[in-house]
Amino acid sequence: MRIDLTGKNALVTGGASGIGRECAWVLARAGARIAVVDINLEGAQQTVHAAGGGVALRCDLGDPEQVPTMRDRVVSEMGGVDILINCAGIISYKRGIGAVSTEEWDLVLDVNLRGTYLVCREFIEGMKQRQGGKIVNFSSLAARVGGIDAGIHYAASKAGLIGFTRTLAKEGGPYGINVNAVAPGIIATEPVLQQIGGREDAYAAQIPLRRLGQPQDVANVVLFLASPLSDYITGAVLDINGGMYMG
Ligand SMILES: NC(=O)c1ccc[n+]([C@@H]2O[C@H](COP(=O)([O-])OP(=O)(O)OC[C@H]3O[C@@H](n4cnc5c(N)ncnc54)[C@H](O)[C@@H]3O)[C@@H](O)[C@H]2O)c1
Repeated sequence: MRIDLTGKNALVTGGASGIGRECAWVLARAGARIAVVDINLEGAQQTVHAAGGGVALRCDLGDPEQVPTMRDRVVSEMGGVDILINCAGIISYKRGIGAVSTEEWDLVLDVNLRGTYLVCREFIEGMKQRQGGKIVNFSSLAARVGGIDAGIHYAASKAGLIGFTRTLAKEGGPYGINVNAVAPGIIATEPVLQQIGGREDAYAAQIPLRRLGQPQDVANVVLFLASPLSDYITGAVLDINGGMYMG
């Protein structure tokens, strides 16, 4: 079955690289018109260019003042958002609570958790008015089992997103808005590969499916959650981890 998102507008935060970029491409291939929002404008522009078109915008999601401005620009360019993928995030590796400074804690929580809240707050009203929408938030395996290499601040931000997702799902349900989260395991993107540097085989040996995940593995699930195939799923957290966590 081919998923057809023709006529839908999809906004992907964090789409300048890694998983977000792959999500933008998968949604564009399915026919959606894409807006890519990232602190890295050049990367966002490259994503849009490679997708064959769309809107690329710079926005620092850690800055509450920039988010309403970004919303206004997206609405004026596209008219509204049907699909919202909140992928932007900072992956921060720290060992031990004492290694995390207050500033680092605030930065990671501000971007990962508060940033998702700010973007959802800006776009959910339009979805309510249109009586429909799909929101996908990015949690992590770190929220499920505790951080493996990721720091305690990162795990806390990603665990917070699970409660956030479920609560927003209850609010959005009566309006036909599905709000779900994905919880990727170890996905081979730049920050992850830098961290595990050359030890891919040792990591893969701990994974039942015996390989690291690829951005496409996550993007495929995001596509499903953005499509009518998932219309009766809301408030769910889908684990994409090769079997590392099966709860
Ligand atoms: N790669 C993994 O193994 C893994 C596992 C679990 C969850 N995740 C989550 O998946 C998402 C994507 O991760 P990735 O591996 O593709 O990493 P990545 O670093 O390639 O992508 C993150 C993107 O977020 C953007 N970003 C960072 N701070 C921002 C800000 N203040 N405002 C706007 N954009 C900002 C970055 O510029 C980048 O394009 C993140 O939320 C991450 O926590 C990744």
